[in-house]
Formats: sequence, structure tokens, C-alpha cells
Amino acid sequence: YLRRRFTYWSRKGVPGPNFIEYEAFTGVHHEYTLEAVKKWGRVYGTYTGFQRSIAINEPDLLRDIMVKDFNIMPDHKHFHVGSSKIGQSLFFMPGDDDWKRVRSILTPVFTSGKLRAMLGHIGGIADKFVERKPVDMRNYVGAFTMDVICACGYGIQADTINNPDHPIVTNAKRVLGFNGGLSIVLSALTPGLARLLRLEPFDIKAVKYFDGLTKQILNERKVNNKSTANDKSKRRTDFIQLILDSEKSDKELGYHLGSEGEADNESTTGGQQLAKKSVGTLTQDETIAQGLIFFLAGYDTTSASITNALHFLSKHPDCQQRLYEELRTCDEFTYEKLSQLKYLNAVINETIRLAPSLTRIQRECLSDYKLGNTGITIPAGTSVEIYPYAIHRDPDFWPNPNDFIPDRFLEPTHHPYAYIPFGGGPRGDPSVQYDYVFML
Ligand code: HEM
Repeated sequence: YLRRRFTYWSRKGVPGPNFIEYEAFTGVHHEYTLEAVKKWGRVYGTYTGFQRSIAINEPDLLRDIMVKDFNIMPDHKHFHVGSSKIGQSLFFMPGDDDWKRVRSILTPVFTSGKLRAMLGHIGGIADKFVERKPVDMRNYVGAFTMDVICACGYGIQADTINNPDHPIVTNAKRVLGFNGGLSIVLSALTPGLARLLRLEPFDIKAVKYFDGLTKQILNERKVNNKSTANDKSKRRTDFIQLILDSEKSDKELGYHLGSEGEADNESTTGGQQLAKKSVGTLTQDETIAQGLIFFLAGYDTTSASITNALHFLSKHPDCQQRLYEELRTCDEFTYEKLSQLKYLNAVINETIRLAPSLTRIQRECLSDYKLGNTGITIPAGTSVEIYPYAIHRDPDFWPNPNDFIPDRFLEPTHHPYAYIPFGGGPRGDPSVQYDYVFML
């Protein structure tokens, strides 16, 4: 039985290992992906635990998988979330009608009008982090990121550096830490078995804290929203409030619209269009789950990217000088001005090319799928593994792939699916504009 299972791909003539690749889980993941693609090619068959997987790192095929044939692979790889409400968050939902509804409600949360309002929170927090003494950058940027997520997500001023024991900070860190160990490995590799064993990959007590916090905020807002109904300037602009307001347009809410109007937050995720207007509302549990995903999806990704940008700049004083000169031309960091700072944008883009936060993006194939003209048919139930780090360092797509060269993003010519720090297609990161406002 085992021989048959683990020789599936070789019997089909698809290159790849004939057993589980332990290095994929035990080694440094991004280095592993680079070596694996060098060894087996951009498309190869593999095994994730007992599950059949296929690694696909060919941009044309990725465009098909993520956009054109989205209906065949609308889900992220299935993961056992346990009894926690996190399962109702966008990232972990199967790509069905419920996911479409939730996504259509969350997408308008990131319009330029609302981001302009959120930039106020971020700028105020950033000012407090200006220091003229040596600091541990990873911790420092981590505290900044935590403060921004608490403010933009829940409207809470955490002040993490001076107040590391604030309950929202300690509980967020517990959720971010997962429960560690075997439970998380089994939940990812063998979700069926993890379900049977009733494993809990997330810290349930910490999740309960956010449950209570969100309910309390929702109750307060019901009262507050009535009293501020006639004074739009007093309305909160955090994630929870924006979800509550999701049925109203930016114009009704009094947000300043950019020249592009409201449909401005889908360009970087493959141009795919879901409903532009939100459809329906979120239940209380769904709102709690989206708040949690704000931490889970937003904390490590942004704080690591900002720290990496600072690291690359410290190694390249010439780039640092150029950036300094560009920033000196800017008297005020408004939403419009941030997008006009071409070199700053190029530095961020080059940072997340060299060091993408997610080194593995996954899809679950729901029915048999003919993979382009490769002659391979991917059977239903197979997981698809996509490795941004390996694609971003492929010399066929990126000359001098290991060098830090922000200039390559000033007039980019790359294949759109050779650059996928935020994934792509309808399942791509819905918050790309917010992520840039945060990092810039
Ligand atoms: C540098 C920062 C970030 C990076 C590089 C990043 C990257 C990604 C990637 C690669 C995916 C998977 C896309 C796919 O499967 O095609 C994703 C999904 C997602 N991200 Fe981010 N992310 C970042 C920040 C954030 C932040 C701050 C938030 C929250 C506001 C967020 C919310 C989400 C959500 C909700 C999804 C799931 C979307 C869905 O399944 O429909 N991300 N992100």
C-alpha cells in the first residue's frame, strides 16, 4: 500500500521524490524550496504527509490555477482549526458562497477613502517610535506592528513598548504562537486525523479573550454609533467599525474618495473581480474571526517585511542615501504622497521579492485538473504547493536574482505571476493597499 501511495507520481512519469520530503518541514523552508525546484524542476510531484501534492512554480500555470481555473481550486489547503472561531475567518474558509459573501464585505474595507482615514492611526503611532538610541530592530518593529494592528483593528491604543503586559498584546502573542508542537503539525498534514483526535492548534483561552473583547466593542459601538450618527467626524475608523459600516458606501460615510473612486483595491490581486458592493452582513462570530485573522495574517508578515527592508538598507548604504534624499523631498506623508515616493515603493517591492513573508502558498484541487500542456492530470484531493521564494529567485525571471536592486521595480517588466508576495487571483491577499500603507 505504501509503495503504491508514494510512487504515484513516478508511475505517471512526473519527476519528484518517492517519499515525504522531511526537509520541507525540518529545514529552513525558503532554502528548501529553492533547492527542491533546482533539483526537480518548476513542476514536480511530492507528498505532504500522506497526502499527494504537486509543486507548481511556473508563472503561466500559476495564472491559470489562481485566476482562470479558480473554480477548480478555490480553497486554501485544508487545515484543521479545532473548535476555535478562527475557522470562520477568510483565510481558513473553503472558497464557497459563504467565503464570497465574507470577502465581498471585507474587500471594501480597504478602499483608498478608508485607508486615508486609517493612515492617521499609523502616522501617530510611527511618530512615537522615533528614537536616537540603539534598539533591537526586530522587537521594536514588532511593537510598532502590534500597536498599529490594535489601533486599526480594534481602536485600542496598546503602547506595546511601555505596556508589554497589556492583555490584548499578551493574548495576541498567544494566538500568534499557535499551540506549537505535534498538534499544529498534524492539523496541517493530516487534518482528518487531527479532527478525529480533537486537537486544538490555537490557544483556546486567548481566542476566548478576543471573543469577549469583540463582543464588548460591538455592544459599545451600537450605543456610540447612534450618538455619532449625525457627526461623521466622530465615527471610529477601525476594522471592527468598518465591518459594521460595510453596507454603506464611502460617500455615505463621508470618506474622501480618490480619483479612482472606490473600486481601487483589486488591481494587485490579478484583476479578478468579486462583487464590488458587499453582499449581506457578517454574523457576530464571523466578525470575531476576521479580527483574529487581522493579527494572524497581518503581524508577522508586515513586521518581518519592515525589518527586512531596514536590514537590506543597512547593507546597501547607497540605496539608503537615495531613499533618504527622496524622503527629504516630502514635507508630509499623506496617502497620495506615499504612492508617489517611487524609490520607497521600489525598496519595499524588492524586499518582499527577496524575502517574501509566505514561502508556501497552497491550493486544494477539488476536481481532476489538466495542467496546461504538461500532460499531467492533477487528481481531485491533491494539494498544490507554490513557492514564492523560489520563483522570486529564479534567474530566468530575475537577472542577478540574489542581489538587492530596487531599481528593477522602477519600470518593472517581469511576468506578473513571477512576483507573487501576496499570492494572486480571487484568493490573493485582500489587503494589499493597506499592507503598503502600513509598510511605507
Ligand atoms: C507584507 C504583508 C503581507 C503579505 C506579504 C501577505 C501575504 C499574503 C499571502 C501570500 C496570502 C495568500 C494568498 C493566496 O493564497 O493567493 C495572503 C492572504 C491573506 N491575507 Fe495577507 N499578507 C500581508 C499582510 C496582511 C494583512 C496586514 C492582513 C490583514 C489586514 C492580511 C490579510 C489576509 C487575508 C484575510 C488573507 C486570506 C484571503 C482569502 O483567503 O480570501 N494580510 N496574504
